[in-house]
Amino acid sequence: MLRGPCRLFRVSVAPVAALAVALVSSLSRCSLLEPEDRVVSPLSPYFGTKTRYEDANPGLLPDPEAPRRDPQLLEETCIPVQLVALIRHGTRYPTTKQIRKLRQLHGLLQARGPGDDRIRAAGGGDLGAVLANWPLWYADWMDGQLVEKGRQDMRQLALRLASLFPVLFSRENCGRLQLVTSSKHRCVDSGAAFLQGLWQHYHPGLPPPDVADMECGPPRINDKLMRFFDHCEKFLTQVERNATALYHVEAFKTGPEMQNILKKVAGILQVPVNNLNADLIQVAFFTCSFDLAIKGVKSPWCDVFDIDDAKVLEYLNDLKQYWKRGYGYTINSQSSCTLFQDIFQHLDKAVEQKQSQDHIANLLTQLGYIKLKCNKLPLHRPLPPCRLGKLQGF
Ligand SMILES: *[C@@H]1O[C@H](CO)[C@@H](O)[C@H](O)[C@H]1NC(C)=O
Repeated sequence: MLRGPCRLFRVSVAPVAALAVALVSSLSRCSLLEPEDRVVSPLSPYFGTKTRYEDANPGLLPDPEAPRRDPQLLEETCIPVQLVALIRHGTRYPTTKQIRKLRQLHGLLQARGPGDDRIRAAGGGDLGAVLANWPLWYADWMDGQLVEKGRQDMRQLALRLASLFPVLFSRENCGRLQLVTSSKHRCVDSGAAFLQGLWQHYHPGLPPPDVADMECGPPRINDKLMRFFDHCEKFLTQVERNATALYHVEAFKTGPEMQNILKKVAGILQVPVNNLNADLIQVAFFTCSFDLAIKGVKSPWCDVFDIDDAKVLEYLNDLKQYWKRGYGYTINSQSSCTLFQDIFQHLDKAVEQKQSQDHIANLLTQLGYIKLKCNKLPLHRPLPPCRLGKLQGF
């Protein structure tokens, strides 16, 4: 599960520092699937961080490499000075913990008694039997690693960003780009894939070399910045090492809403309700999302739940994020998050630099004005810098 942003990406543009941030991914342009053949599930909006990028941002579907510009931004009125991208990793496998729970659930289904055949004979459509025969293709080694789709997510994101900010991503600025990542394998791999996307932008048609040999790479690992929560004393004391920090989450897992789902699912799968618990149900729910995101298939796990169940499971996940990430303990203020401090410091510095450069440029322009006026030449005045607080969904 994601604990924090994975990578920070910075580009500097001469003579102004520039920094970039983003979050996205997409479907292959050369996919053989026509849009109407796309496999979808009505549960998708309830998967939280496990929602497919293209479900969260359907604008990616027609062309995952084409940039889409917010008409309010980057018009003639301002120029991009700095771009900071806080990028989540691309699509990944489930963790070993999730895979083990899924295996446990699969084991329960396969151990069901012979009485179940009655339902099939009655034409009831035995979802339990379908699931028992549905291949469990997740293995322990996969442990949350980036999948090929995730690499593609990142390459396409890089291509979109490079086309969206051509000045910042000019070839000469490549050396000023800074990619900072956490040490998590899926994050490091996402960083490498992002650089491959940029390589594709700069050298269309050429196969990318090893990231270590790229002019822009390789990503720098900085856990102190990217896993800042591991270094926050307040978070460690009040949440990480606090046995009762997740009290409300545990209470919800055994509460009436969850009990209803347990009973319902036990009935559908024809397994004893006592063998099920909220964690197993949640992993079954996420398996629908993993199969959709990783393989593009709608597994029978999606048919186990309806929208009302999905709302309860979404709430469970939100509740966990709320208490586990420290929001419930008001320790997410700007003062406690070194990552955001870092981002704002860089933005402020870039604006400052830009302003002092503009000041000099203005003086020079004024001097030039006197000279140019005589020649009746048009003047080019530098545009003011603008601060892009929040860019989403590009
Ligand atoms: C641990 O969590 C509980 C439940 O939210 C909270 O009341 C308590 O203050 C926390 N303990 C510490 C040491 O922060």
